[in-house]
Amino acid sequence: MKAMFYNQAGGPEVLTYADVADPEPGPSDVVVDVAATSLNRLDVVQRNGWFQMPGFVYPHIAGMDIAGTVSAVGDAVGNVSVGDRVVVDPSLAGVADDSKLAGRGDLFGDLGIIGGTVDGGYAEKCLVPATHVYPVPDAMPIEHAATFPTCYLTAAHALFDVGGLTSGETVMIHAAGSGLSTAGIQLAKNAGATVLATAGTDEKCERALALGADHAFNNRTGDVAGFAREVTHGAGVNMVFDHVGTALFGPSLFGLGIHGRLVNCGNSSGDDATIPSLGYLFHSGIKIMGSDPYRPEEFGPVWETFCQGDFEVVIDSEFALADAAEAQDKMLASDFFGKIVLRP
Ligand SMILES: NC(=O)c1ccc[n+]([C@@H]2O[C@H](COP(=O)([O-])OP(=O)(O)OC[C@H]3O[C@@H](n4cnc5c(N)ncnc54)[C@H](OP(=O)(O)O)[C@@H]3O)[C@@H](O)[C@H]2O)c1
Repeated sequence: MKAMFYNQAGGPEVLTYADVADPEPGPSDVVVDVAATSLNRLDVVQRNGWFQMPGFVYPHIAGMDIAGTVSAVGDAVGNVSVGDRVVVDPSLAGVADDSKLAGRGDLFGDLGIIGGTVDGGYAEKCLVPATHVYPVPDAMPIEHAATFPTCYLTAAHALFDVGGLTSGETVMIHAAGSGLSTAGIQLAKNAGATVLATAGTDEKCERALALGADHAFNNRTGDVAGFAREVTHGAGVNMVFDHVGTALFGPSLFGLGIHGRLVNCGNSSGDDATIPSLGYLFHSGIKIMGSDPYRPEEFGPVWETFCQGDFEVVIDSEFALADAAEAQDKMLASDFFGKIVLRP
């Protein structure tokens, strides 16, 4: 099969598009013919060598968000057949012992991730545990399914399982045009929250409003904490959902009201953060919460909600797999809104 892989860290030039061996399923595995895969920031972070997940090895085939058609099944597989259209849960927690991808399920150790630490969707075929594929409804375009896994599961886990967001609360969501936040805005609205979105351009703010955010604000040109205070009539928001990290940590904290929760699941602008006022933190009872990996049992219910069709699928652009370098450049330049899709 053709795959896009790399053998060393570096710029787009390290990406190699070439033939590699087709994957063969273990007894509890399937092989998925990849119809579409979508980019995540981790793809470019690992390729550049800025950070690589525990268990990462070369050569690496990226691509965590995969949808396609099952083309082979292992001897012990009963739940899936050749020809089924499926979406893939990339987290290797909860994998059967006779899968070739077993033994990588330690959520707080070197958790295996398809396309993160083992071969992913930047290829014509991908090996997946049979327990980790979910049927794609006939009416759903396959590329829509490929926008779902990482963003929706990470955002849902952070907002609800970790952050405990409930109907009627206010949540501020940064980087509104990112994959995670286009999912987060819609999940929060769907749960009955009021959403304050921030983004790096006025155009992205407009798009956030069109996506359902109640208020939007340019986080590069204005006072983000002031925005949160103004919209909430001085009270501050109940929650901030952040994955930008360093750049917006202080304004996020000061935008929170009494007993506010700052839920973080990423560090796109940097890994260090300074608490600008411990006094504000303790007087207001602020909680700073890290969002740990989602659990295997969370995937099905979030996928079911997505399949009900209440969400807008936000695809910025599509590229042929051979043009993955161009797609990754676009991501690094933040020149996108939503998900960038690759077609093997
Ligand atoms: N914990 C998990 O399980 C998990 C899972 C998935 C992702 N993540 C992390 O979450 C983050 C987002 O992932 P993603 O795939 O959604 O990324 P993405 O689509 O590439 O979005 C990243 C966004 O961060 C914003 N940003 C970067 N530098 C900024 C700065 N200095 N100030 C303000 N905003 C800045 C940009 O927003 P603008 O467009 O507004 O400029 C950019 O579009 C990454 O750090 C990723 O590693 C974590």
